[in-house]
Amino acid sequence: MNKAIAVCGKGGVGKTTIAALMCKLLLEHNNIKGLAIDADPGAGLSQATSLPIKKTVNDLREEIIACSQERTADPSNLAASIDYQLMESLTEHQNLAFLAVGRPEEDGCYCQVNTFLREAIQMLVSHFDYTIIDAEAGIEQLNRRVMERIDFLMLVSDLSAKGLHVAKTIRDVGAKNIKDHAVGLVLNRVKEEKEVSRIEQSIDLPLLGWIPEDQNVNDFDCNAKSFLHFPEAPALQASRSIFARLPE
Ligand SMILES: Nc1ncnc2c1ncn2[C@@H]1O[C@H](COP(=O)(O)OP(=O)(O)OP(=O)(O)O)[C@@H](O)[C@H]1O
Ligand SMILES: [Mg+2]
Repeated sequence: MNKAIAVCGKGGVGKTTIAALMCKLLLEHNNIKGLAIDADPGAGLSQATSLPIKKTVNDLREEIIACSQERTADPSNLAASIDYQLMESLTEHQNLAFLAVGRPEEDGCYCQVNTFLREAIQMLVSHFDYTIIDAEAGIEQLNRRVMERIDFLMLVSDLSAKGLHVAKTIRDVGAKNIKDHAVGLVLNRVKEEKEVSRIEQSIDLPLLGWIPEDQNVNDFDCNAKSFLHFPEAPALQASRSIFARLPE
């Protein structure tokens, strides 16, 4: 199936939490080969899942640059081996592989890392049934076409007008920069269910699902517990019905 799902939205709306819960759900399906990509240089998904980082996309980029500067390798061989090196950079945990983008030392390198990440996503997606990408907040990575290979844009928002506005902006940028894809809105931190139908009726985005405010999420966050061990609590149950509605 080789489906790639990007979890996008405004800062702080719950992208990493939801991506981590999707990782937990992937682990429940051991017949599915899953890949999680932490595309946020802040490495929140690595923390939320306690999945260690073996080698980041940025580490690999720097190694390749160093090799080509030292002329220790034939550039054509180098290009051919990137796919192999990417696979070697993955952390493996049961049926789930994990890769983090990492953070360049110099500010100016972010766009180069994003370009490399776009190529890495292109290469890796075909090796896995499902790829879940925890994107950086906002529209930058969509603008830079980092997500151009994805099949599904999961737009996460809390119930705020700002969060919903950013979700719609991301939908619009995605429409320009991603070829064939579907979108779905996930409302997070819902306190009253009636809010969901109010928003669903007033917004021109298809609703994929909603996740309630769940004290367990705060507990896991504050105490740095791995979301791969999240209990059968409301946030996980709601995530399960969202997971079931992802494209096959
Ligand atoms: N359903 C929920 N119930 C309770 N708290 C939640 C829920 N979802 C997220 N939170 C809390 O909201 C905060 C932000 O969540 P998270 O880090 O997942 O957001 P994010 O979109 O990844 O943020 P960033 O843009 O900084 O990467 C965290 O403190 C988290 O515990
Ligand atoms: Mg995050």
